[in-house]
Parts: sequence; structure tokens; C-alpha cells
Amino acid sequence: MKKIALLLVFLYSLTYAAEYDPIRGQMLSLSCASCHGTDGKSEAITPYIAGMGKASLYQILLDYKNGKRVETMMQKHAKGFTDEELEQIAYYFSNVER
Ligand code: HEC
Repeated sequence: MKKIALLLVFLYSLTYAAEYDPIRGQMLSLSCASCHGTDGKSEAITPYIAGMGKASLYQILLDYKNGKRVETMMQKHAKGFTDEELEQIAYYFSNVER
């Protein structure tokens, strides 16, 4: 029984996403504020990213990083982060109220 429980924990850890660390998420997300506004609430022509769904935001950031989505500057910016950092950033903005 104990072995099955351990196996389940192991399998869960393989599929489950990184755990959210709010302070780290906020620190990393500060690098986005210069263009996307405080907490992603853009008041300029850059997209408003506050409150976007975590999964889609993370996927968009990965696509920028991996060159699957190419625009004027996001792919350059996204390359500066590890996947795990991009996920923390996605958690952060998805937790901001729109
Ligand atoms: C130098 C300015 C700049 C910085 C810094 C920046 N962005 Fe962007 N972002 C843009 C621009 C401009 C676009 C529109 C697409 C393009 O031209 O690259 C964009 C597009 C996006 C999009 C796509 C939105 C959509 O609905 O299609 C997301 C998501 C995004 N940025 C997230 C982020 C995150 C998260 C960060 C911080 C890690 C960040 N951006 C940092 C300028 C910036």
C-alpha cells in the first residue's frame, strides 16, 4: 500500500506543473511592467495581459521563447527566462484581477 502511494506521488510529480511562488512570480514579472504596465494592466498599445488564463499565457510565452511565435520583441524577451520562470510569470499575471 505504501509503495502504491509513493508511486502515485511520483507519477503526480511528473505531470504536475511547477508550484507557484508568489514572491518570485512578482519579481520576475517586474521585467514586463515597462511595456505592459503595472501588473500587466497596459495603458499603451502593448497588450493588456493582467488576468489572462495561466495555461494560455504560459503557452504563448513558451512559443515566443521557442520561436514558434514571432513578433516584434516578445521572442527576444522570453528567451531570457527558463521555462520554470516563464511559468511563474504566467501564474503571477493570471492571479491579477483584470
Ligand atoms: C520591450 C517591451 C516588452 C516587454 C519588456 C515585454 N513585452 Fe510582452 N509584448 C510586447 C509587445 C510590443 C507585444 C505585441 C507583440 C509584439 O510585437 O512582440 C507583446 C505581446 C505579449 C503577449 C501576447 C499577448 C496577446 O494577447 O497576444 C504576451 C502574453 C506578453 N507580451 C507577455 C509578456 C510578459 C509576461 C513579459 C515579461 C516577462 C513581457 N511580455 C515583456 C512588449 C513587451
